[in-house]
Amino acid sequence: MALPWTTLIILIVISSEIIVSCSASTDADALLKFKSSLEISSNKDALVNWGSGGSSSSPCSGDKANWVGILCEKGNVWGLKLENMGLKGNIDIESLEGVPHLRSLSLMNNEFEGSLPDVKRLGALKSLYLSRNHFSGNIPGDFFSSMLSLKKVHLAYNQLEGQIPWSLVELHRLLELRLEGNKFSGQIPNFQQKTIKSFNVSNNDQLHGQIPQILSRLDPSSFSGIEGLCGAPLKKPCNAAKVPSIGSIIMVSIAVTLALLAIGAGIVILSRCNQSSSNEEDPANGKSPSASELDPGAGVKSPDRGSSNGSVTGKRSADSAKLSFVREDSERFDLSDLLKASAEILGSGCFGSSYKAALTNGPVMVVKRFKQMNNVGREEFQEHMRRIGRLKHTNLLPLVAYYYKKEEKLLITDYVEKGSLAVQLHGHKAVGQPALDWPARLKIIKGVGKGLRYLYSELPSLITPHGHLKSSNVLLKANYEPLLSDYGLIPVVNQEHAHELMVAYKSPEYSQQSRITKKTDVWSFGLLILEILSGQFPANFLHQNKSGEEEDLASWVKSIPEKEWNTRVFDKEMGPTKSSEGEMMKLLRIAMACCESDFEKRLDLREAVEKIEEVKEKDGDEDFYSSYASEADIRSSRGLSDELNFTM
Ligand SMILES: *[C@@H]1O[C@H](CO)[C@@H](O)[C@H](O)[C@H]1NC(C)=O
Repeated sequence: MALPWTTLIILIVISSEIIVSCSASTDADALLKFKSSLEISSNKDALVNWGSGGSSSSPCSGDKANWVGILCEKGNVWGLKLENMGLKGNIDIESLEGVPHLRSLSLMNNEFEGSLPDVKRLGALKSLYLSRNHFSGNIPGDFFSSMLSLKKVHLAYNQLEGQIPWSLVELHRLLELRLEGNKFSGQIPNFQQKTIKSFNVSNNDQLHGQIPQILSRLDPSSFSGIEGLCGAPLKKPCNAAKVPSIGSIIMVSIAVTLALLAIGAGIVILSRCNQSSSNEEDPANGKSPSASELDPGAGVKSPDRGSSNGSVTGKRSADSAKLSFVREDSERFDLSDLLKASAEILGSGCFGSSYKAALTNGPVMVVKRFKQMNNVGREEFQEHMRRIGRLKHTNLLPLVAYYYKKEEKLLITDYVEKGSLAVQLHGHKAVGQPALDWPARLKIIKGVGKGLRYLYSELPSLITPHGHLKSSNVLLKANYEPLLSDYGLIPVVNQEHAHELMVAYKSPEYSQQSRITKKTDVWSFGLLILEILSGQFPANFLHQNKSGEEEDLASWVKSIPEKEWNTRVFDKEMGPTKSSEGEMMKLLRIAMACCESDFEKRLDLREAVEKIEEVKEKDGDEDFYSSYASEADIRSSRGLSDELNFTM
């Protein structure tokens, strides 16, 4: 039997751990080797007592350091602070890999030159201080991708140039970033980390564009001496037509060694997804594999790991990469336009990340990046995408183009202004929008129903034509017309990941009988309606109760007597709903019938959508022409006064 992916990763981590701890027997040996490649130019006394015998034969005694420039804890070296020593020469990172507890490295104010040392091999570093040297050149965009523990990055007063590496945006613990006094150019990447306390890019006078929102609370002196920057905290407003931007985030996908990025990030994401209790901060276990350890091409002892990764292609393919358009009516652009485009991270989940990319000639696109999508070969994938590209309906977000690469796929769609239903329901306060009222919610539910009905008629060969219906995959147009996204993907998603990732596999029929059915999307739809009407986030209800049964939003509603639905289930934020209570109850009963855990008894999609169409905005108002209901809706609701029978 094949090992599950998670196990493989754990094995890789463990094996790299072993390699590291065997490569140098002690901190002292590793440090002496490190020292041997340094040139000590001006200050002849620097590092003089390293390894000079007596108590000095070991760098640490408990928390006390015997050697100059060493920081110790419990007999282990955790920091190297070699500042103002006139050091130059080669920074032998490989030797430092033999100092397993190293978390902080400072070489500030020395005379090192050339490109930055390959610190990404020290994947557990929390602090990196390299300011005030003569480092120069470009830093690759993915440079920090495998250094997810980093909190403090000081590179100020060197001669670094090119783009500020986008991988800094992915360091979710970042506290301090000091880049002042270099020659960085381009735009400031769209930092999103609320953790950032100290940030300075001043005097990088080639930077331009809007300062990212999250940095607007910082002191203006963080951005001093740069003509081209605009937006808060500077007093210089940006030209409104200009979108805040960083072109290179999307390079995430292409111009890097994908496999190792996926694995590096995968560890963090997986541990989040599985809510595993292991603490990555624990210094003893916290060493994330550094990029080069995982890269079979990097010359590290890796007897048999390369095979599982397949070939790691990198920058080479970026130029030749081509987008495949699946629609005739969409504007053409190519991958390089996308890569140049201003981009912003919209969200990242366990399944994929999405980016908003504003092309220079106008259109704004969303790029979704999927890694667990190599179930099928290139041709089959293309065939399926073309099929999806032919779909056209008011309530579907059309696929515009895709990018195929063995290890990952990009799916490109239009950008939808109001964002997802999930944000509108659960995050509207944070984004400063009013809560959705009942008419808007009803309109959304009806639209989702229509979109699903269309998918069922156009993709009859798929067991679950949507397969991944949830509030974050329902986008809203300005008039609250909903657009379904991420539909029809089940055939191309890796089977072994599909059950962890996709909504269809959370259904009762999957958990009880390991199967999905034509009615599985109905179940997701029912749950979505419950979420919309209650304002409750379904994931908050997913757990096992005392008797070992799965609890979900539906069983919660079921546990509440109908006469209390009004006070306990309906979302108070829907506003005054006195005049529509009856219709809301009706809709909630339909949702419950959709959530019926026995799929034999569950409504089928056509029945569910028909019943939903009959729900009106106001109670007992036969002649009420809702602005949200079509003529046909009204016609079909006439004469329907008998209660729907849901006992089945
Ligand atoms: C940023 O760096 C500049 C130049 O060194 C300095 O004048 C300014 O005070 C710094 N600002 C902050 C907030 O660190």
